[in-house]
Amino acid sequence: MLKYEDLHENKLFERILNSCNDGINVVDKKGILIYANKVSADYANSKREEMIGKHISLFYPQAVVLKVLETQTAILDERIHYVGQKKYVISSYPIYIGNEFQGAYSVFQDIREIDELNRRIKYLELHLALSKTETNITSVIGNKGSLEDVLIKAKRTVGSLAGPRHSIIIGESGTGKTMLANLIYKYAIEVGVLDKKAPFIEINCGQFTNSDIAALEIFGSEEGAYTGSKQKKGLFEQASGGILFLDEAHALENYQTLLLKAIESGRIRRIGGNREIPVDVIVIAASTKNLKEAMLPELYQRLAQYELYLPSLKERSFAEKKSLFNHFVEKYINAVESLHGIKFKISFDKETKESILKANYPRNIRQLRDVINYSIDAATPLITDIKDENTISVIVDLEHLPFEKSHGKKISIDERAEDLIKGYYRQGYGPRRISKKLISVGYNIEYYRIAYYLKKHTG
Ligand SMILES: Nc1ncnc2c1ncn2[C@@H]1O[C@H](COP(=O)(O)OP(=O)(O)O)[C@@H](O)[C@H]1O
Ligand SMILES: [Mg+2]
Repeated sequence: MLKYEDLHENKLFERILNSCNDGINVVDKKGILIYANKVSADYANSKREEMIGKHISLFYPQAVVLKVLETQTAILDERIHYVGQKKYVISSYPIYIGNEFQGAYSVFQDIREIDELNRRIKYLELHLALSKTETNITSVIGNKGSLEDVLIKAKRTVGSLAGPRHSIIIGESGTGKTMLANLIYKYAIEVGVLDKKAPFIEINCGQFTNSDIAALEIFGSEEGAYTGSKQKKGLFEQASGGILFLDEAHALENYQTLLLKAIESGRIRRIGGNREIPVDVIVIAASTKNLKEAMLPELYQRLAQYELYLPSLKERSFAEKKSLFNHFVEKYINAVESLHGIKFKISFDKETKESILKANYPRNIRQLRDVINYSIDAATPLITDIKDENTISVIVDLEHLPFEKSHGKKISIDERAEDLIKGYYRQGYGPRRISKKLISVGYNIEYYRIAYYLKKHTG
């Protein structure tokens, strides 16, 4: 039978302490190490035999046990940030034998990985909040300017007395198509055309590699439609009573006829089934391309009862660009404040702000938004480096911009180059080699800019 005393006699305690995941140090009253476990020695890049008998500060310059030796009271969950890589969370306790103070011990853990994970989670949370599309007409920039007419028309698509109509939204990438579809949905609920719980189903028609799969997704399937198929509701059916948002509708291809039938008759048939299922759906089709050319004429006619055109960023006034700029900065501030419970102040260097406003954005408002967010990111200290401040002020400077300082005439890394960079990075290439590779396909991008890009996009 194993007894408690056996643990002592056979040095089992030591083995147990050595196999735990935390570092452990025990010092006498003078700070001399009388015990250190293996984790502690590993953290200190040393060996246990070399540590024991020496002063702890030789291995742990800011050792918390030293404070405990002074105060003779425990310190819990103290964080120490060593210059360099190490970052510990430590609890340290005094040792009394009888009534006499004899030394102290600490139990600690390297929290870099946890910190890093925390940071990444916070970063993702933040950017998730930042990329949310506006769903409130009043927070849309340009509702009294470039978007005034289109918003009135958009309201009419669902709010007119003649009943809700299908519509088409045309605009370059990043001009607010998804946003507008959401606004229409929200407005339809507001005016009672749609139920509060009405569905909003979004399909990216470009996502399907094959039109059979697309048809199954959109129209659903009955058991036995193909080998092993189950009964499944399609997206069209799921959208019944609400809105079906067909994004990139120019990629509809072969199932246009099925779609037309569904819209005309108000009924669908699941693939492999005969049953007609009634559906009541408002369709909004969005595209960057001219749908009149990409669609069957009958389908186009059905959908284009209202055509909503969103202007590119280029077509908008400078004042509106400024409003968009302020809007995204404010959004960033709000997101940080609500995520971290601190006051966050951002100021932009004058030239930097101008560069951002004057740059050319092929991906429109989304790209403007991303450039603003990235520059603020680049100017902001890591959340783990923020100690107990309750106000953080950052200044965004030219060096924080993700593009050339030459008044940003062109955003230097375009979409295709981005894809190439990401591709090479995934294959294990570093920035210098990626830079060389890109030259051979006509891009001259300095390696440090690639490094910067990768830092921003791969975390
Ligand atoms: N007028 C606007 N006011 C404020 N934000 C806008 C405006 N238009 C677009 N955005 C924002 O720009 C981003 C891109 O818009 P999105 O609707 O996704 O574009 P698209 O679907 O056309 O590619 C979103 O974050 C959206 O909220
Ligand atoms: Mg979109």
